[in-house]
Order: sequence, then structure tokens, then C-alpha cells
Amino acid sequence: MLISRAVVDDNIPMSTATRQSPAPATGKTAPVTAQTDAAQSTKASPPPAALTEPPVSRTTTPQTEFESEASRWVQRSPGRSGHAVRERDAMIRTVQARVFGRDPEFKHYYNCIDELRNTRTSDYMFATPFDLHRWYKVFERLRWGGQFVFTSYDADQVHKLAQVYASRGFVIEHPPAYVRHPVMGMYLPGLGRKVHYFVARRVHLVRPGEVSMRFTYDVYLKHEPRAEQGYVVAKQVPDLETVMLRLKQRFPEAKTDFVETQAKKLIDTIFPVFLTREAAFLKILQRDLPEAYRNRVPRAVYVEKDNRGFVSKLHLNWLRKSGPPISQIDFALQAADLLDKLHEQARVIHLDLRLDNFVVTEHGVGFVDYGSAARVGENIAQSPLLDKLFQEMMKASQIQRMLAKMTSSGLVTSQYFTGSHQKVDKAADLFYLAVQIDKPHSNPDIKEMVRYDASSEEARLISNLTEHVLRPNDPKRPHYSSARNILEALLKIKERLR
Ligand SMILES: Nc1ncnc2c1ncn2[C@@H]1O[C@H](COP(=O)(O)OP(=O)(O)OP(=O)(O)O)[C@@H](O)[C@H]1O
Ligand SMILES: [Mg+2]
Repeated sequence: MLISRAVVDDNIPMSTATRQSPAPATGKTAPVTAQTDAAQSTKASPPPAALTEPPVSRTTTPQTEFESEASRWVQRSPGRSGHAVRERDAMIRTVQARVFGRDPEFKHYYNCIDELRNTRTSDYMFATPFDLHRWYKVFERLRWGGQFVFTSYDADQVHKLAQVYASRGFVIEHPPAYVRHPVMGMYLPGLGRKVHYFVARRVHLVRPGEVSMRFTYDVYLKHEPRAEQGYVVAKQVPDLETVMLRLKQRFPEAKTDFVETQAKKLIDTIFPVFLTREAAFLKILQRDLPEAYRNRVPRAVYVEKDNRGFVSKLHLNWLRKSGPPISQIDFALQAADLLDKLHEQARVIHLDLRLDNFVVTEHGVGFVDYGSAARVGENIAQSPLLDKLFQEMMKASQIQRMLAKMTSSGLVTSQYFTGSHQKVDKAADLFYLAVQIDKPHSNPDIKEMVRYDASSEEARLISNLTEHVLRPNDPKRPHYSSARNILEALLKIKERLR
């Protein structure tokens, strides 16, 4: 309560803490490698020990009655014969023209590739009964917020499938309806064969039925007509059942009573405390970041509090992934630049700067998820509860564990980093920035937004920089100890690449 009020009132205490003497560096080994965010087992976010992450596990792949029926149509249908291809294309073309013809979102995000054969994720997928389209495959191949459009001559199929999607992590954007094929190239009222369709948007991050350790909170897209994109990101404390499932998965041996007590603690105290802090940090960012950078971090558009004053739900503007992929050097430059402003102007340390929390938006690279953030110089120890939570968080932090591992194997020798282990310090952000810009493809979502070729001159120069940041010639007097230093070095690389 005290913490909550303190941070909400924006009076985050300032610290008098000084950096402790650095740990000694050890020998050298193999090159730096970043792990895939999705596969990493822990992260610097609440809850600490409890939600350390095993690999994502899936419940059995669900198949509805409808879908088995759908696969039979596909077998019965002429397959990809000339006729089927023509019919399929005609249905999709008609719906695209008549439903999406003037849709600005479609214009902006649709790229006309065959989404069902494409292996990359996309913002639109079109399917007909001629295509085998299981909802969970569609879910995986659509970006978060992407739309699935099903078209068929059979109204009943469309209605049934819309119901399936409505209960599987999608919202129905356009309920079942029909448009008509053109006749002699013209759309004539009442004439032309009916093409039925519905449109569903993927709003969940994780497939229903899947227990994912990748995210802590319940995060989904919520329709909000007044929002810029028509949607906001809702972030809320997850329910007891979800948390218990995750804990059980993590600790299969634990007794149900114990799991329940832990889950309640997380839901009642830990999650609300950190969500309350996040809401406060978002305010600080909008106030203290230079204006040009404010649209690269989320803004809270709605805050809901419980009766103790803790934030239980946040609505954020949606920093939608968009546009063609950017180069590795631009990705690195924009990230370093934003981090510099975050540290030096907003005086905020992110502490969970995994690629999961990066977005590539039309305004540039952005960072989301300030759930683990701290103020530069914040005296965490001043509040016993916060102190304990941060200590646990640090212990569970995947970034901290990687730092420890790389320090002991000699991959990190700079005393700027080795001396900051387990501390609430800007060094944690810098360490991870250096690792991430070197391997931007270690996260599947970011992979599609950044062009990266390990054998390129660009990749070699950035790798070299990362190496110098982490293992400087003189570990006691490292040159790189701020985002600005890294930014300057990246600018030189960009110049060289011209
Ligand atoms: N405002 C936003 N705009 C775009 N994407 C967002 C936004 N907020 C969150 N996301 C996406 O949702 C994911 C989960 O949100 P977030 O990281 O805030 O919660 P979390 O992962 O549950 O928190 P924690 O890392 O504390 O466990 C992010 O990794 C990001 O992909
Ligand atoms: Mg996150």
C-alpha cells in the first residue's frame, strides 16, 4: 500500500547507493550468444522464483468437430487443381475488393503473398474451404492483432467456423455476412454468386489451452473504438487458475495447497505492486522523455485500481509492429538512442530489456513492459517489501543469470558489468543491449522485423562492438559505460557502412 502510494504519487525515493567494487574477471571462451527469449527460462519480472520458466508446454492440440469436417472437404475438394485455384482466388479477390477495398488498415498491413503457404507470420490470412486451415495454425502464423478472413460459398460453414474462432483467442471483427461476385466485371446489386465470409482478429498472445511461461500478466488486445488503431493493449493481473497452472508446471512435485498459497500471494500482492509501479513509470516516461521519443514507449490510457489503491488493470496504446524490416544497424542505433534517453532524461532503468520487450513500430524501435523498472538512484532498500521483491526478482532474472554465466566463462570482463551483478543498475540494460544488437534474430517476433545476415560486414562490425563493450582491452577502465558511448560507436559503424 505504502509502495503503491509512493510510486503512484510519483515520489519514487532516490537512492544514495554507490557502486560496489567489481568482481574479478576470469578467462576467455567462446563467442557471445544470446538465447531465444521464448526459450529462456527466466526473466527479470515478477514473480521472481515462482515463475522461472520451463520451455513452453502445450496441451493436446485441439481439433474441433468442425475442423475435422473441414479437412474432409479439403480431401473431397479437387485439391489444388486449376478449378480449385481459380475458385479460391476468385472468392478471396471478391472479399478483398468488397470488404477491404477502402480499409486503411488493410492498405497499410496487407502484403499480397499467399499467407497459407508462407512460413512467416503476417497481418492477414485468407482461407477458403479449399485450404486446410486449423485455427491453432492460423493463430501461430498471424501476428498479434492480425486478421483471419474465411470465405466460402456455404453460409453454414462460415457461421460454424466463426464460432470456433470466437472462442479461440480471436475476436470476430466482421460477423458472418456475404458479398457477391462481380458479373461481367461489375458488382451488381442482387446479381452474382454469394460469397460468405467472416473476419476474426487474433487478440490473445498465447493460444487458449497453452500454458506459457513467457509472459507474466494477462495481456490481450481490447477493442476500443476511440483508440488510434481501434484497439488498446490490456494488461492485467492473471486469474488464480492460470497462475496455479503455471506454478504446477514449474513445480510438478509441489502440493496443491502450497501452490495455491503461492499463487494467491502473487495475485494479491506481487503482481499488483509491480503493475502499480509500471503505471507510475509510464507517467514518468511521458513526462520526462523528449517528445520525439514518447511514442516509442507505451502510454497508459486507462488505469483500474483495486480497493487498496493497487493497479489491477492497465490499458496501453498499442505500439503495433509495422512496416518493412529495418537493418541491423538501424535496429541497434534506435535501441541505443532510446536507451540513452530512458537512462539520462527519464532517469529510468528498464531491467528487463529482453527482445520480448522490444517493438519495431512506424516511429522506430520501442521498449514495452516497465513492470520491473526502477528509477536511477532509487533506494529500493527503503521499503522492506520492495527490497525483498527486487532481490528475488534479481535472483530469478534471466539477464542477471546470463551476466553471471558469461562473467564466469570470461565472456564478460568489463568491470562496469561484473561489478553490477544482482544490482538495480543501468549496467543491466547496457549489458543486454550489447548482447541483443549482436543477435537480433534470437527472438522469433523481432526476427521478421530486422534484416540480419551473420556473414555481413554490418553484423561483423556490430559483433566486434559487442565484444569490446563486454571484454574491453582494459577491464578496469572500460570505455563503454553508457548507452551514449554505444550509440556513438554505432553511429561510426553506420558511417563506415555507407
Ligand atoms: N503497448 C504495447 N504495444 C505493443 N505490444 C505490447 C504492448 N505492451 C505489451 N506488448 C506485447 O505484449 C507482451 C507482453 O506484455 P508485457 O511484456 O508488458 O507483459 P509480461 O511479459 O506479462 O510482463 P513481464 O515481462 O513482467 O512478465 C510484450 O512482450 C509485447 O510483445
Ligand atoms: Mg514482458
